[in-house]
Amino acid sequence: MNKKKIAGEKAVEYIKDGMILGLGTGSTAYYMINKVGELVKKGMKLKAVATSKSTEILAEELKIPLVLIDEVDKIDLAIDGVDEIDREFNAIKGGGGALFREKIVANLAKKVIWIMDDSKLVENIGEFPLPVEILPYGYKHTIKKLENYSLKPIIRMRENKIFITDNGNYIVDLHIGKPINISDIYSKISRIPGVLEIGLFINMCNFIIVGTNNEVKVIENKILN
Ligand code: 5RP
Repeated sequence: MNKKKIAGEKAVEYIKDGMILGLGTGSTAYYMINKVGELVKKGMKLKAVATSKSTEILAEELKIPLVLIDEVDKIDLAIDGVDEIDREFNAIKGGGGALFREKIVANLAKKVIWIMDDSKLVENIGEFPLPVEILPYGYKHTIKKLENYSLKPIIRMRENKIFITDNGNYIVDLHIGKPINISDIYSKISRIPGVLEIGLFINMCNFIIVGTNNEVKVIENKILN
């Protein structure tokens, strides 16, 4: 079984006619977006806000009606992938570099579902390097400050060049090692002026949908629901 596919396609069952959706980014979101395309083709009236340029391109190909985030007052349901999540719904996102827009969309959404294969569900988050979006201006100094906190920052590269986000910024991945101390990290990193957004998503989703070898599990976040 394709674990990402079954998780992505299960999430689509939560979509209702007339909804404004937040469309996530990544290889699991890909399957969900394709299914949303099928719903639109069948006549469902949906609108969607994309969390990245790559998602926007895919949604356009599938003729999913897109709206800009500033054209809507709310998002009914955001469905997105995740890089690591624990049982308290603390998550790391940003492996695909879209963490900033993903956080804005999740924050605006009435309900949030994260879709994943079972490798993403962990005891403690932190093994996956924590992505942080930083301003290009003064980035070497920002990285120095992260190094001074022993957060082991590595600037993200793509094809021998610095990776640039859809917002025109850079990403540093913090190789902290697990388990990470979430409040400690927040208090250190958020004081650094060049830091724009952190890929920590704390208790922001209502459900997770996890694809395993033989089933798809829906786990509810009882604190938010
Ligand atoms: C992009 C993200 C993605 O949601 C995350 O990387 C998803 O991973 P996958 O491709 O395994 O679904 O945070 O910034």
